[in-house]
This record gives sequence, C-alpha cells and structure tokens, in this order.
Amino acid sequence: MKDYLIKGATIVNHDGEVLADVLVKDGIIAKIAQNIGEKVVEIINAKGLYLLPGGIDAHTHMEMAFGGTYSSDDYFSGGEAALAGGITSYIDYAIQRGDDTILETLKKRLELVKKEKPRADVFFHVAVTKLNDKILDEFPLLNEHGIHSLKCFMVYKREGMQIAPDDIAKIMLKAKPYGIMINIHAEDVDQIDANIDKFVSEGKLDCYHHYLSRDESVECAGDKIVIDLVRKTGAPAYIVHLANAEGVKLARAAKEEGLPLLVETCPQYLAFTEEVYKDPIKGLDFVCSPPIKGKKSQDELWRAIEDGTIDTVATDHCPFYHEEKLWGKDDFRKIPNGCGGIQYLYTYLLSEAIKRDIPLSRIVSLVSYNPARIFKLKNKGAIEVGKDADLVLFSKDGEHKISKEEDVSRADTNIYEGLSLRGRIVQVYKK
Ligand code: URP
Ligand code: ZN
Ligand code: ZN
Repeated sequence: MKDYLIKGATIVNHDGEVLADVLVKDGIIAKIAQNIGEKVVEIINAKGLYLLPGGIDAHTHMEMAFGGTYSSDDYFSGGEAALAGGITSYIDYAIQRGDDTILETLKKRLELVKKEKPRADVFFHVAVTKLNDKILDEFPLLNEHGIHSLKCFMVYKREGMQIAPDDIAKIMLKAKPYGIMINIHAEDVDQIDANIDKFVSEGKLDCYHHYLSRDESVECAGDKIVIDLVRKTGAPAYIVHLANAEGVKLARAAKEEGLPLLVETCPQYLAFTEEVYKDPIKGLDFVCSPPIKGKKSQDELWRAIEDGTIDTVATDHCPFYHEEKLWGKDDFRKIPNGCGGIQYLYTYLLSEAIKRDIPLSRIVSLVSYNPARIFKLKNKGAIEVGKDADLVLFSKDGEHKISKEEDVSRADTNIYEGLSLRGRIVQVYKK
C-alpha cells in the first residue's frame, strides 16, 4: 500500500473543521499537522476541498432472502455502490434462520463475504428471529466475535421473523451487561395485520394501501412500545429506520428524560413523502417498511437531524429489481419490501447540508462518527492519528442530477434518480 500526503484540505470531524495536512502510512492515519514536509511518493493538493472520514452505513441487507426472492446486491456489488458514494464500511444484518444460533448465523454470512471479497469493510448485526436458551447462552461470546448489536423485528409475524415485546425485554436485559445494543424495527404488528386484512376484504391492494396499512400511527405505536421497554428494563435500544413525526417527538422526550435510546432514520424518509405511492407502478420501487410518511413527518425528521435527536442516518439498503416489485402491482402483500440507496447516503446528506446550511460536521456525526461509536468500530469514524485511512475528499462546488448511468448497485430501481445534488466526491481513499 502506497503512503500518501493530503495537503491543505479542511478536515471535517464530528466536532468541527480544521485546516491541516494528513499523512497516511500503511493505510493508517500517521500524522495530522500544518505543513507536513514528509517525502512520500504521492502528494495530493487538496486546497479548497473537504476531507471527511469514510461513511459507515449502519443498516444494510445484502443478498437477503425476503419477499420470495433475494435483495439484488451481494457483498461485493453492494460494497462497490458504497465506495462510489464515499461509504467505506457497512454493517449488514445477518438474519437468523431456522434453528441456527447467532454464531452459526454469523458464520454463514462471513463465508459469503470471504467468497465475494468486497472492497468496502463489512461488519454485522445479527437479527434474532427465534429466541431460545441456546441463543441466550451465546451472549457472553458475542463481543469477541465482533457482534456488538442484535436486532429484533417487532413485525413480519406472518413471515416468522417477529419477536414479541416480552421476548425483546428478555433480550435487552440479557444483552445489557455485555454492552450489546438491541436494534428494533418498531411498528405495531397487530395493527398492521388488522389493516391488511381489512384492505384485502375491501379489495384495496395498490401500493398506496401498503402505506395506509402501516401509517404514522402504526409506526408511532411501535415506538411507544420500544420506549416503554427501555424505561422498564433500563437497557439501551436503537430504533432503526424511524420515519414518523410523533415517534420523533416521543424519542426526543425520552432522550430528555435521560433514557438510553438511540435513533436512526434513512434518506428515503428525508427525501420523499407518501406522495410517491400515488403512482401505482413507479410507487412500487419505493415500497419499504416502514413506508415513507407524509410531509409533517419529513419536516420533523429534518428538525431532528438538526437538533441531534437523530443519532444516525443509514440506508436500510435492500434493493430489488423492478420486475420483482411488479409481483405486487395488484396485491401490495407480494411486493418485496425495501429500497436501495447506499451509493447516495453520504452525497445526498452532504448536498442537503449545503442547501440547508447545516454544518458538514453534523453529517459526519450521523454517517461516520456516531455509527462507529454506537457499534464499536474502533478504527473508524474520525480523521485521527491511528485510525484507518478511510477518507473522502469532497468539493462543495457543482450540482448534478442523479442518473441511472452512475448507479453502481445491481438493481435497476434507483429511487434517487433525478434528484439534484450539490457538491461532489473528488476521491475516496480506502485503507
Ligand atoms: O422494507 C424494508 N425495510 N426491508 C428490509 C427489512 C427491514 O425491515 O429492515
Ligand atoms: Zn426493518
Ligand atoms: Zn432493514
């Protein structure tokens, strides 16, 4: 690996900006100072540019079996899409299947990574879908295997993936002494299933009714359950893909109360509203759970980005081919749930930061520093001596429209196509 020196960039970390040179040796940040005079082969003149720590997408689903197919990116192709957008690491969900334990689940996914050799760094959360004593007995071993977080789906009961609130409480209490974070997909499953049955009996099966079956109140009911669990157990929880305004307000109040609650949202909830589902064909590509909500929720999410209620923004990258999305054209229950977006996470947020006058350091907190801190990726998340040299050189200049041609993901459904982005990535450096 070649050593190199980046000269004159504005370094952006979670706590602010500083103008300095950065020397990289053997893929590690070796020195940060003014006017470094080291003799190295490659010197990069980065005057006028911003140097950011590589992004970390804390929520992905590569080649996940779901909705009668597999999400269309594997670890390699998802990693290529990630790197194209300055995301140098991602944390994927290994989903427990059948009677596999947590460590068996992890082992199978690590074998895929080994085979596919992604250039981005891949880490894992494990989603527990069937709780038993064998699983609970593994908790003391998880940290040494690099597992610092587990996930529980409150939903997907009919798909056999749901963990009921009492079992989530059990998992939270068991995980607490080991510092293992419990990530929760929060929506009220009984309300969802009742709404689905009602819409089916009424023959209302277009994709707008996917949204209506899991609207703002359904998601907020799930958030309430999570916050009650945190209050009852005293154990931390991380709400994944929060998308509704009332849930944001509850999370804000819970944090003010001092509860150990962390919150993630996704770019699709920031960029779009439920209007996208009014097109019965194009709308299929946007179908994900929780669905994208109304304008009030979108505005409240942006407020929460700015005031720090939201801790991370991650994609929930789970793309499918349009042909597969079409399976549910006349019955929303058959639409594979999920959208891609790993390539546009950082660039979309940086662009919005420019447009909305949000400091770039806030975006670095959301997409790099906080995910590294929360999920214990100790060599990532900051431009600091000793950390991995996963770096993104960014220019605030220029504007372009996202096009299908630049999309690296294998899927042909790019929900961000046509969105106008300010700024551009000049270079991505990966350890
Ligand atoms: O629709 C989504 N989000 N698909 C992926 C699975 C999940 O719930 O995160
Ligand atoms: Zn989910
Ligand atoms: Zn997900």
